[in-house]
Order: sequence, then C-alpha cells, then structure tokens
Amino acid sequence: MKIISKIADMQKFSTALRRKGRSIAVVPTMGCLHEGHLMLIDTAKKHADSVIVTLFVNPTQFGPKEDFSKYPRQLEKDLALCRKRGATAVFTPSPDEMYSKDASTWVEEVQLSRGLCGKSRPGHFRGVTTVVAKLFNATLPDVAVFGKKDYQQAKVIQRMTRDLNFPVRIILQETVREKEGLAMSSRNSYLSPDRRIAALSIRRSLESAKSAIRNGEKNAGRIRKSVSDGISSSGGRIDYVEIVDADNLEPVAKLTGNILIAVAAFFDKTRLIDNIEIKYW
Ligand code: PAJ
Repeated sequence: MKIISKIADMQKFSTALRRKGRSIAVVPTMGCLHEGHLMLIDTAKKHADSVIVTLFVNPTQFGPKEDFSKYPRQLEKDLALCRKRGATAVFTPSPDEMYSKDASTWVEEVQLSRGLCGKSRPGHFRGVTTVVAKLFNATLPDVAVFGKKDYQQAKVIQRMTRDLNFPVRIILQETVREKEGLAMSSRNSYLSPDRRIAALSIRRSLESAKSAIRNGEKNAGRIRKSVSDGISSSGGRIDYVEIVDADNLEPVAKLTGNILIAVAAFFDKTRLIDNIEIKYW
C-alpha cells in the first residue's frame, strides 16, 4: 500500500494508474477509522480496480467552537486498517499541503446545504464541498464512496459533483451500526459508557417513528415531537429533529413520497447525528 502526502505525488500516482487502464475509487475520510469507514472501502473495491483512502481532518469544515483540535487522530492504526482492508494507496496530506496560506477560493452549494446541519453549523458544508473538490482533483477518481450516516453531506456532494461536472460517480453506502443500533462514528469515542447507552434513544426513537408512520400516523408534527421526546427523556439535548423530502431535503408537512427523518442531538458535549429513510406511497 502506497502512502502519499503530497498532492503532486498523488496526481502522478493516479495518472499512472489510469494510463494502465485501472479505474480508481476514492473513499474520503477524516481518519480514526471504524467499521463504517472500512465498509466504504469494501464497497469501493466492488466498483473500481484500485482504492484510494484519504485521511485528512479538514480544518475548514469545523466551526470556531467545534472540536477540530481534539478530533481523534490515530494515523498508524488507520494505515494498518487500510492496508488490511486492501486499499491501494492512502493520501494523508497536511493542512498546509491542502490549503495555501492565502487560499481564497471556495466551493459552495447553496440549496441542499441550507437546512439541517447547515443551519446549526454555518460554513460547515462549504468546508466539506471545498475539500472534497480538492480531494477529487488530487486523487482523480472514477468513483467516490460516501456514507448515508451523513445523509445531507452525501446529497450536497452529489449535487456539487453534478453541478461542477466532475467525471466522478458517487456511490452511497448504508449506515453501519453497533450491535445495539448506535450509528458508528469517530465521535462515539467521546461518549462515556452511560452516555453511549443513553444515545441508543436516537435509533430507538427513529425506529418507533417509522413504525408509527407505517401504522398510519400522518401528522409530521406529532412524529417530530415523539422523536424529540424520546431523545430528551434519555438526557439528549436536541439540536434538530426534521422531517424532510429525501431528495431535496425540504421540510414536509405531509408524510408522502420518500421522506427522511434526520436528527442531531448532544449527549454531554458530543453532537451525534442519525437519520432514517421512509419510503411512503
Ligand atoms: P468522516 O466523518 O471521517 O466520514 C468519512 C465517510 O465515512 C463519510 O462518507 C461518512 O458518511 C462515512 N461514514 C461515517 N460513519 C459511517 C457509518 N456509521 N456508516 C456508513 N458510513 C459512515 O464525512 C467526513 O469524514 C468528512 O466530512 C469528509 C467527507 C471526509 C470531508 O472532509
């Protein structure tokens, strides 16, 4: 497995692969890899001859009061995991390599990024789209794989890829969960054992909402309240509970079509997100 930290070297490596006729899948990550990330690598392998995993904690997607400096980092362990899972190369640039001191260009999606996490984390998606565009330009992939745990992010990246004509096919991967239902996340490592148990209320509430809808509940307000109450009563502090159209992410009043219930909640200082898709009729 090749370990590359310079953009020019990454581009040379990818260009050489492409000249040999090998297709490339990229799996962008911020490291601290867990099984959710590793499943993305497995999916990537099914769609391309070579897989490049990027490990980069991207400063521009963190707000000034967020956890950039304490975001978990474990480079050696991540490299071993990528090697074991069969990655062809890992791209681990430094922040200085990725961003010139006087960088003044952003990539910004302005529609799908507005609500949900975009509302509570201003500037977050602008950081994500900018870095993902730069990672595409560094790794020159045919395919890129993203997780539905970050559903809004996946939609925003799909839109950016289409709008800017990146010749990259975006593949989405289902959320990988702990046995008890908690969505795997690098941030779960911040949770104390009792907060981790309390956080199971997120999944539980989303599953009950889905059953209620399947059993005929039509009132979006009541569903939102039941999800909110389920999480708050376990000690979670709600950032948002929204019911949106699964394609355009606009809030829906009527529960019809394909909808998404998306949640962000704090357990102590740890902000967790999750969502559930419901295909209605
Ligand atoms: P990160 O949080 O490290 O996630 C990297 C990728 O793994 C994302 O596509 C995310 O949706 C996916 N992922 C995380 N947990 C998952 C789970 N439990 N099941 C399935 N997929 C999961 O998302 C980012 O990094 C960054 O914003 C990034 C896109 C790399 C840009 O910096």
